[in-house]
Amino acid sequence: MANFISFLLLLSLLSFFPMCLCNKKLGGYLYPQFYDYSCPQAQQIVKSILAKAVEQEPRTAASLLRLHFHDCFVKGCDASLLLDSSGSIISEKGSNPNRNSARGFEVIDEIKAALEQECPSTVSCADILAIAARDSTVLTGGPSWEVPLGRRDSLGASLSGSNNNIPAPNNTFQTILTKFKLQGLDLVDLVALSGSHTIGFSRCTSFRQRLYNQIGNGKSDLTLDQYYAAELRTRCPRSGGDQNLFFLDYVTPKHFDNTYFKNLLEYKGLLNSDEVLFTKDQESAELVKLYAERNDLFFEQFAKSMIKMGNISPLTGSRGEIRENCRRINA
Ligand code: HEM
Repeated sequence: MANFISFLLLLSLLSFFPMCLCNKKLGGYLYPQFYDYSCPQAQQIVKSILAKAVEQEPRTAASLLRLHFHDCFVKGCDASLLLDSSGSIISEKGSNPNRNSARGFEVIDEIKAALEQECPSTVSCADILAIAARDSTVLTGGPSWEVPLGRRDSLGASLSGSNNNIPAPNNTFQTILTKFKLQGLDLVDLVALSGSHTIGFSRCTSFRQRLYNQIGNGKSDLTLDQYYAAELRTRCPRSGGDQNLFFLDYVTPKHFDNTYFKNLLEYKGLLNSDEVLFTKDQESAELVKLYAERNDLFFEQFAKSMIKMGNISPLTGSRGEIRENCRRINA
């Protein structure tokens, strides 16, 4: 009997310790069943509201996928991005990557309001972003995965973090990779997650430099197909038209697939940060070729990398709070 009890003790220790190590490494322990008892309808509610929103406006899927990324790269996946300015909080919505660009906040509000009705003060805004990113991927034809849950919401925002941590479209390959590595993500994650640009739009201002003056000599980017460039110039003039919208994947813009990578092989990536994945680094170029060839491998890695990104420094336990309204901290 004593032996049996010590065996049980050993078992529980063995299962506890790896979890502790993983806690330290990942910054918190998330698991897909987190709301199974406290709010069993949570995932269904997110999915149904999102599906309606995407039906009304297909771009919403892309916009919400991007919000999770812009949240996780700043202080971890803690919904800091969703806070409006007030009191001592300066909203991340005004940062360079987000200003006139990040969108979909009203859909998150709608989801949060429905969840507060069903299970008050239970489901975090950070988890809503993670679930919505997965559902956006699925709704547009991409892979699915179980979303680890249990994130809590931040008590503050970081405008400087938003400006500095989120890669810019004209950053060099090395700078972009370094910004990913600072978040614990690697080259494989960078290439796979960039595949998000298989859906959604970019504004003219985000890639104009490539069309007119890529390296300061008044010429367009040599790694941009010249016919494609000429077409882009018709709606993205030298000056003006900053907000004009262009598909990130001009071939299948609303469908989540590996066409994005096929475009890169043809020098038809829209952003500089897209094309450099194929032109500036051998290892990265090999991955681009692999994903262009094998949609199944792209989907598999995309799901893995999304889970990894979703694990960036979450607030768990008693850190942070469950916001009642994603736009402000609780009174
Ligand atoms: C690798 C570095 C990345 C850079 C430099 C970058 C940059 C950009 C830029 C400049 C835009 C267009 C914004 C505008 O003009 O308003 C954009 C759109 C988008 N990005 Fe990224 N991005 C990166 C990685 C990612 C990742 C990791 C994800 C998701 C996991 C993502 C998802 C999206 C989506 C879905 C859109 C379209 C949004 C919409 O139509 O509303 N991006 N990105």
